[in-house]
Amino acid sequence: MFQPLPISASGGKHDLYRALAQQLSGLLHGESDAIANAANMSALIYDLLPDLNRAGFYFLRGSELVLGPFQGKVACVRIPVGRGVCGKAAERKASVVVPDVHAFPGHIACDGASRSELVVPLVVDGAVLGVLDLDSPIPSRFEEDDRIGCESLVRIYLDASDLSGSGR
Ligand code: SME
Repeated sequence: MFQPLPISASGGKHDLYRALAQQLSGLLHGESDAIANAANMSALIYDLLPDLNRAGFYFLRGSELVLGPFQGKVACVRIPVGRGVCGKAAERKASVVVPDVHAFPGHIACDGASRSELVVPLVVDGAVLGVLDLDSPIPSRFEEDDRIGCESLVRIYLDASDLSGSGR
């Protein structure tokens, strides 16, 4: 059984994401089920990235993002593309870093403790299939290094998982 290893934060975010990427690759190795992998990836990120109150997925179903596997408090189930931080990231096909959720027009508050947010879209062959959504109770928790690091984690997820039946 895979056991997550604690990651030292002393090496900085670059080392942290490199270690996280190694662990994620091991965790997803040999498994292609997109929901199972999203569930385990959410748990790994929530466990090992500091200062999060949520980590999880939404998957595109028609013109809406629908709640997928996550760690954290209960969340809104459906988000139209273009709405909130998740919908904007899906619409733009680009990651969105929000230092202050209260200053983001249209932010959808699921957990009142959230202060900052990072959303990375799942893009395959130019099509958005969903998003990875991370929330933090700390303002300005997510920096450029987090965006780059989480985009590399999403790439590992997409390479490992069979998303052929997913909303495309
Ligand atoms: N804050 C998100 C909604 C999802 S929850 O954070 C789980 C948004 O504005 O899209």
